[in-house]
Amino acid sequence: MWKQVFFSTVKSLIPFKNFLRQQLRVMRPYESLHANDSYAFEQGLEMVVALKNAGACFGTVLEIGTGWVPTIPYIFHSVGAKKLVLTDVEPLMDEATRRQARDFVESQAEDIALATGIEQSEILANLRRPLDFDYLCPFDFEQVKKQSADIICSRTVLEHISPKILADMIPQMMNALKPAGLMFHIVDNSDHFEHKDKSISRLNFLRYSKFVWLLTHINKQEYQNRLRHSDYAKLFDVDGLESVLFEGIIDEKSLVALASMNTHQDFNSYTDEDKAALTSLILIKKQCS
Ligand SMILES: C[S@@+](CC[C@H](N)C(=O)[O-])C[C@H]1O[C@@H](n2cnc3c(N)ncnc32)[C@H](O)[C@@H]1O
Repeated sequence: MWKQVFFSTVKSLIPFKNFLRQQLRVMRPYESLHANDSYAFEQGLEMVVALKNAGACFGTVLEIGTGWVPTIPYIFHSVGAKKLVLTDVEPLMDEATRRQARDFVESQAEDIALATGIEQSEILANLRRPLDFDYLCPFDFEQVKKQSADIICSRTVLEHISPKILADMIPQMMNALKPAGLMFHIVDNSDHFEHKDKSISRLNFLRYSKFVWLLTHINKQEYQNRLRHSDYAKLFDVDGLESVLFEGIIDEKSLVALASMNTHQDFNSYTDEDKAALTSLILIKKQCS
């Protein structure tokens, strides 16, 4: 893990990073891993189905933190979303990664049809239409018109936002949503350093004090807030929002591992189940008034 921290800290010190990224991508387009695309697709489809079952209108969909490959926006496009507002703090998406996402989602048209009940021919026809989208980057909710979004979604993004900024963002999300609009957030509550370093546990980050943890994200892209599932329940417990689904999926292996792991005292107030809820599924409705 510390090796990863070292290299990403050095990377963050490179000047003109966005310009260099663009030049490098001309020579070598970004290539995502098939496993990552498949997992994003699986979670994106789960999101779309849950939103459909909750009666969502697939008009304007705003995604917070689109990242490199816009798989989830293309799933929304395939089921007939009219307008996509894609956002990020860094311009990671480009034309090649958009094409990659479109082709991947098209290859999964049969699964989308099965899960949503929409005819496969309609899904393919939607995907053949040009994507009507804005890319707001660097993103700030100030750029979004009041009551303009039917849906706000995010996947593996909220864990990268500080609790203070998140608390400020929730009323902004409410402002951006139309009355009875819905939001779906999928949060990955696991230690992201474990994704590349399988020698550590998925809850390794709970061992560190706030100070030591600060050293891991001198490169802001590495920031993880370490909030647990119950913290999100508190954050979204706001007048005017109604929870439709608030599920924390417990990782049994992590739950067992906690028994022999020393977590930092800052996490003493959480139950083991709460600590080991590594995925949060959050579906929330904005009340009409
Ligand atoms: C782990 S990636 C997830 C990307 C994509 N949602 C996916 O599922 O593949 C997190 C993304 O959130 C973006 N991000 C972090 N903080 C953000 C913020 N405050 N507003 C918008 N995007 C943000 C990052 O730049 C990055 O693109």
